Amino acid sequence: MYEFEATVAKQIIKQDFIKPKWTQKNAGLRSSPGLLYKQPRVLIGRTDVASVSPWSAAIIWEGTFDATLIDSIYKQQNLTIATTVFALGKYTRFIKDFLESAEQHYFVGFRVHFYLFTDQPESVPEVKMGENRSLTVLKVQSLNRWQDISMKRMEKLEKLIENELAGEADYIFCLDVDTMFYGRWGAESLGRLVGVIHPWFFDASRDQFTYERRPESLAYIPAGEGDYYYAGAAFGGTLEDVHTLTKTCREHLNIDAANSIEAVWQEESHLNKYFLLNKPSKLLSPEYMWRGINEGATPIKIVRFADVPKNYAEVRPNA
Ligand code: UDP
Ligand code: GAL
Ligand code: MN
Repeated sequence: MYEFEATVAKQIIKQDFIKPKWTQKNAGLRSSPGLLYKQPRVLIGRTDVASVSPWSAAIIWEGTFDATLIDSIYKQQNLTIATTVFALGKYTRFIKDFLESAEQHYFVGFRVHFYLFTDQPESVPEVKMGENRSLTVLKVQSLNRWQDISMKRMEKLEKLIENELAGEADYIFCLDVDTMFYGRWGAESLGRLVGVIHPWFFDASRDQFTYERRPESLAYIPAGEGDYYYAGAAFGGTLEDVHTLTKTCREHLNIDAANSIEAVWQEESHLNKYFLLNKPSKLLSPEYMWRGINEGATPIKIVRFADVPKNYAEVRPNA
């Protein structure tokens, strides 16, 4: 009898201390009275591209959302968008254009907190940030291989979310730094788990995707499987979902390393495996990660975010 009571009391005490790490705002999609915007039409939409995946996740393209309406809805939620970027070695040269173009196009009017990981905090340029926008510079150790720099991001993101972001942000996007914004990237991109369709493979058959094809790697995807090929250069979602994603990819990268195997596209391969088994709740079209501002392709009506050309041999620490 006494023993039973003690157990119950213990459980209650324990429950008191279990607080959710991340709280997700659940404000609904509230619209302001009197807000005017174009009538949505059931029979009118993009007909040249798919704007929904087979598991009913929206695929965001120009023409699939109303910017005024969606901004008005999400501004009522008083959100903070954490945004991470890494610039080690010679990649510090990309920081200025990345941040300045983000000021012009990325979540304009929202609270955005950039976290910049670099091995050279002293060489971070001064960039004038708008109201409600801030930059935190975090020093990290330099690494000798670009592959290691790229892969290490998963662990750094996992720890950032775990140690710094609880209560500080609602959503997070994790982006490559050798990029620039050229068009709007806003609230239409928000979702629980968000993947970006890679700019080189949106029209390819799944067997041409550059998934990891060796069964020895945890990133392995056999021929005949796969949905889309996702870019490693941009992904995001809620803190909780991106924490699970980065933790899983970090664990799988470590297990692969212990087995002396490195997936063909490093963490991008593991991200693709993760998204195969954990479907994104929203997909961004290649408008959100394009090949370069001067490259065209039929379905791309606007380039929002794109690679900046680079001389690989010159910028990377190893060839
Ligand atoms: N990176 C870095 N320093 C390096 C190599 C890579 O900071 O020497 C970071 C940087 O954020 C970069 C990302 O890792 O955007 C991915 O590497 P990279 O852009 O070279 O890969 P790619 O997009 O060309 O496949
Ligand atoms: C390249 C890109 C790499 C990787 C690769 C996948 O265009 O630069 O980062 O995504 O495609 O095949
Ligand atoms: Mn890149």
